[in-house]
Amino acid sequence: MAIHPPKQMIWWHEPVERSELVWIAVAFLWGLVMFGTMVAWHFVGKQNLSNEAYRITPDVFQARTEAAAEKYKVREEGNTGIPVVRPPPGGDAYMLARLWEWWPILELEKGQSYRLHISSLDWQHGFSLQPTNVNLQIHPGYEMVLTVTPDAAGQFTVVCNEFCGIGHHTMIGRIYVVDKK
Ligand code: CUA
Repeated sequence: MAIHPPKQMIWWHEPVERSELVWIAVAFLWGLVMFGTMVAWHFVGKQNLSNEAYRITPDVFQARTEAAAEKYKVREEGNTGIPVVRPPPGGDAYMLARLWEWWPILELEKGQSYRLHISSLDWQHGFSLQPTNVNLQIHPGYEMVLTVTPDAAGQFTVVCNEFCGIGHHTMIGRIYVVDKK
């Protein structure tokens, strides 16, 4: 029993106030509009990045990334010892995040499509591809998979934009896009 019980105990049988019904209808319709916009934006919103995410363990992701790096390595970056990996056009490209690097360096061909897999081996990192508007949260335990078709040649920088500790500001990666034509 409430401290101040309502006079009319069967209040749930009272008719709903007209203005309340109107608000419920408005809110419901607006919810439908927003839902529809969300779906439509997937197709027409150029700034939206539609990616897939799958569960994966850090161990498995690391093994796949290292296997791909070994198979498709074309050179090392300067004297850093970091492999530059050129995956086959139409194939899978792997990049992992860990404290505090993006590994390896990828080299893609302009106009070719790739399945780009990204995951973290430890904390949460942020994949920001500069100077483009590509921005992803990278979590351990999940791999983000994007179908990418680079449309400009050049050197792109991956910046970690999720604070991940003392070395966060040094967590810089690289993607090269070469024009073969
Ligand atoms: Cu990784 Cu900040």
